[in-house]
Amino acid sequence: MCGIVGYVGDQEALGVVMDGLRRLEYRGYDSAGVAILDGGLTVERRAGKLANLDKEVTAHPLTGTTGMGHTRWATHGAPTDRNAHPQTSCDGAVAVVHNGIIENFARLAADLEDRGHELASDTDTEVVAHLLEEQFTGDLAEAMRTVCRQLDGAFTLVALHRDAPGVVVGARRNSPLVVGAGDGEYFLASDVAAFIAHTRDAVELGQDQVVELRRDGYTVTDFAGGPVDVKAYHVDWDASAAEKSGYPYFMLKEIAEQPVAVASTLLGRFADNGNLMLDELRLDEDELRAVDKVFIVACGTAYHAGLIAKYAIEHWTRLPCEVEMASEFRYRDPVLDRATLVVVISQSGETMDTLMAVRHAREQAARVVAICNTNGSTIPRESDAVLYTRAGPEVGVAATKTFLTQITATYLLALYLAQVRGTMYGDEITDIVEQLQGAPALIQATLATVEPVRALARELAGAPAVLFLGRHVGYPVALEGALKLKELAYMHAEGFPAGELKHGPIALVEDGLPVVVVVPSPRGRNVLHGKMVSNIQEIRARGARTIVIAEDGDNDVTPYADSVIRVPQLPTLLAPLVTTVPLQVFACELALAKGHDVDQPRNLAKSVTVE
Ligand code: G6P
Repeated sequence: MCGIVGYVGDQEALGVVMDGLRRLEYRGYDSAGVAILDGGLTVERRAGKLANLDKEVTAHPLTGTTGMGHTRWATHGAPTDRNAHPQTSCDGAVAVVHNGIIENFARLAADLEDRGHELASDTDTEVVAHLLEEQFTGDLAEAMRTVCRQLDGAFTLVALHRDAPGVVVGARRNSPLVVGAGDGEYFLASDVAAFIAHTRDAVELGQDQVVELRRDGYTVTDFAGGPVDVKAYHVDWDASAAEKSGYPYFMLKEIAEQPVAVASTLLGRFADNGNLMLDELRLDEDELRAVDKVFIVACGTAYHAGLIAKYAIEHWTRLPCEVEMASEFRYRDPVLDRATLVVVISQSGETMDTLMAVRHAREQAARVVAICNTNGSTIPRESDAVLYTRAGPEVGVAATKTFLTQITATYLLALYLAQVRGTMYGDEITDIVEQLQGAPALIQATLATVEPVRALARELAGAPAVLFLGRHVGYPVALEGALKLKELAYMHAEGFPAGELKHGPIALVEDGLPVVVVVPSPRGRNVLHGKMVSNIQEIRARGARTIVIAEDGDNDVTPYADSVIRVPQLPTLLAPLVTTVPLQVFACELALAKGHDVDQPRNLAKSVTVE
C-alpha cells in the first residue's frame, strides 16, 4: 500500500510522476502529493483521490526535471491535506514520501521537538524529513543512510533536498522499491507499472539499501555505505498490459482475461521427463520427498486459493495440509521443522503479513515455496522456490484473474509433489494435466454465458445481505464469492460450509434472503451432491431465494432453484476454476449497480505492506 514514484531525467518530472501515480493508485487512494525540484523545492498535496491533485497541478503546473510523488493509504493520521505526502522539514528544504510504518516515530518525534523542531502533521513519516534536515551536509544519500540506521519498522522512503539538484534518494526496508533504468533518465517506484511506459529495464533493490539516482546513473549501497550487488531484470510485459483497453474498469478487463491468464500459468510447465518446472528452485527432490506436512499461508483472496489447494494436496499427495491466514500464522507458534513445506501464496509478493510468515517459517528451518504474480518481489526472493502465476499485471484492487491462476499453480505444485513422492501414477497426472489444459476454454465458455448473472445482480442490488454456501472445494469458492461482494458492494455477505448451516447460520435465513449455493458435481462424490440438494431444500423451505451454481446436466437442483447458473463440467477438484467466475461477475455487477468504483473499493489497497 502507498504508491511511490521518483524521477530524474530530461522530461518534465510532473508529467512522469503523475502518470506513474495513476498506475500505482491501486496501492492507496486516500490522498496524493508531488514534489518537484527546480532551483527551489515545491510540494503540492491533496486529500482524496489522485484526481483532486491532478486538478490542482493542471491548473498550476510545477516545472522541473527532478521529482517524486505519492499516493497514500493512511496508517498514521487521517487522510487530510496536512497528512498527505510529501512531508517536509521545518525549513521546507527536504521533502519525503514513505510507504510502511516507522514504529519508533513517537520517540523520534519527541526528541526532535526537544531539539526545537515543529512537527506539523500526525504522520510517522514527518520525522524522517526533520531528521534528514539535521543530517544533510551536502550528500543526501549519506544523510539518508544515517537516518535509516535510526528507524525501526518497515519503510520505503524517497527524498529530495533543495540543495541537492538533480538527485533523488530512496531507501528500502521491508517495503518494495524498484529502480527503472532508462536512457539518461532514472525512476524509482513501488512497482514497475509506474515507469513501464518509459523503460522495461528494472533493478531490484535489496533489504536495507539506499539508492541515489542522478541523470547519469545510480548508486546503491547498504545502510552503512558499503557497496552491494544489485540484480537487473527485463520486465516481460509492456504498458498496454496495464491499460483498460476499452473496458470501463480494470476489473472487467481482468475477469475477461482469465482464460489467457490460466493458459499462460500452465504453459511449458512440464519438462519432457514430466517434472514441473518451477521458476526458481533452491530445493531438491530429496527434500520434497522428506516433507511430512504442508502449511499454506496467505491473506485475503490468496488464502481462499490456499483453502482450495488443501483439497488437492491432501487428495493427491496424502500429505496433511493446513491452511492459515498469514496474520495469525507466526503468532501462534506453529510446529514447523525441516520436514515442513510452507507454501505461501501472494499476488503482489509484498504482503507484509505473508512476508513475515515466510521469515518465521525459514527461521524454523521449514522449506518455503512461493506462488506469486510479481517478478522480483520480496516474497519470492526470500523463499526457497518460486512458481510464478503468469496473470500479467492486476490493477483492480479486488483479485480476480490472479485467484484463478493461484489455484492453477497450486494444482501444478500438488501434482509435482505427487509425482516426486510417487503417490500418483504418471497416467493419472497426465489425465489431470490434460483436464487443466482444457480449463481456459471452459472459463471462456462460462464468461460467454454470464449475462443472466449480471441481470440477477442488478435485480438484487437492494438486498440487505447475501449468503453463500458450498461444500468441499465449493466452500472456499463460497467464501471468495462473499468476500468479493463485501469488498466491492460493501454488503453484508458470508460464506458457510452448507453442512454447518444448520448449526447456527440458518437462523439468518428469512423470507427473500438471496442465498447462492455452489453445488458439487454429481459425478464426484455422489453423497456430497445429494446432501447439498437437501440443504437447498432446507433453506428454500425457510423462504430463501435460492441461486444455484450447478454444472451442465445437473438437473436434480432445478426444482429447488429460483435461479440456476450453469457452469461447464470439470473434475470435482478443478471445478473452482469455473464456479468462481459467475461469483466475480455477480459482485462486480452488483457493485456497479450501486454506483461503486469497482477498481478502487473504499478503505482497501492492493499491496498491503503493513502488518
Ligand atoms: C489485500 C487485497 C486482497 C488480496 C490480499 C492478499 O487485502 O485487497 O485483494 O487478496 O491483500 O494480497 P496478495 O498480494 O498477498 O495476494
